[in-house]
Amino acid sequence: MFNLILFGPPGSGKGTQSEKLIEKYGLIHLSTGNLLREEIANKTALGLEAKSFMDKGQLVPDEVVIGMVGSFFDKHKDAKGFLFDGFPRTNAQAEALDKLLTFKNTSIAVVLALQVSEEELVKRLLGRGLTSGRSDDTNETVIRARIVEYNVKTAAVADYYKQFDKVEDIAGEGSVDDILASLCQSIDARMSKVA
Ligand code: AP5
Repeated sequence: MFNLILFGPPGSGKGTQSEKLIEKYGLIHLSTGNLLREEIANKTALGLEAKSFMDKGQLVPDEVVIGMVGSFFDKHKDAKGFLFDGFPRTNAQAEALDKLLTFKNTSIAVVLALQVSEEELVKRLLGRGLTSGRSDDTNETVIRARIVEYNVKTAAVADYYKQFDKVEDIAGEGSVDDILASLCQSIDARMSKVA
């Protein structure tokens, strides 16, 4: 298996690039944001609980997210690899992910960390909020709260993986195709090492 984490703050392009990477490399896309929005759309108890946090730009509690990821793994037993988008977002989630992957006899090959300035993030998310229907994109206060949450709770997750020499920074501003090319270059290099 080849597993990678696409890491970065809200609006850094994780979802945009994930769509292209899963197609090119045949990976299963695990976006906790998408899974949570599906739960909200289906009006499940998990979705109702998650919505109260998401609407404020706060992280959903670890136990909720980790349980959801465990169920996703159970549904994709034959995956040849996963692309994690928006997960893990805390050290507790990173440790839980390690355990899930160890159970499958595999691990994270690389963490690709998209680097985008805060002003560019806010501009992109406000732009998307005009059409996306995402409640957490329409209001600049909530967008900035998401970025603060990232800086306080999520940025340190990169340090967790740095101790295993798995993190590569990728410039995340410029054209989608140029950023994709940088991501693919790093993935191809890592794949040749694990092959
Ligand atoms: P989630 O859905 O994961 O959202 P996010 O991390 O805030 O990320 P976004 O989807 O907003 O941005 P992105 O990096 O994917 O960028 P995108 O490609 O879309 O999480 C939402 C919420 O769910 C969280 O706040 C939290 O409450 C909860 N949650 C989710 N996972 C959780 C977890 N593990 N633990 C706890 N809570 C969790 O691009 C953004 C915009 O920019 C788009 O309009 C796009 O077209 C544009 N764009 C992309 N690339 C470029 C480019 N190169 N140039 C110009 N524009 C670009």
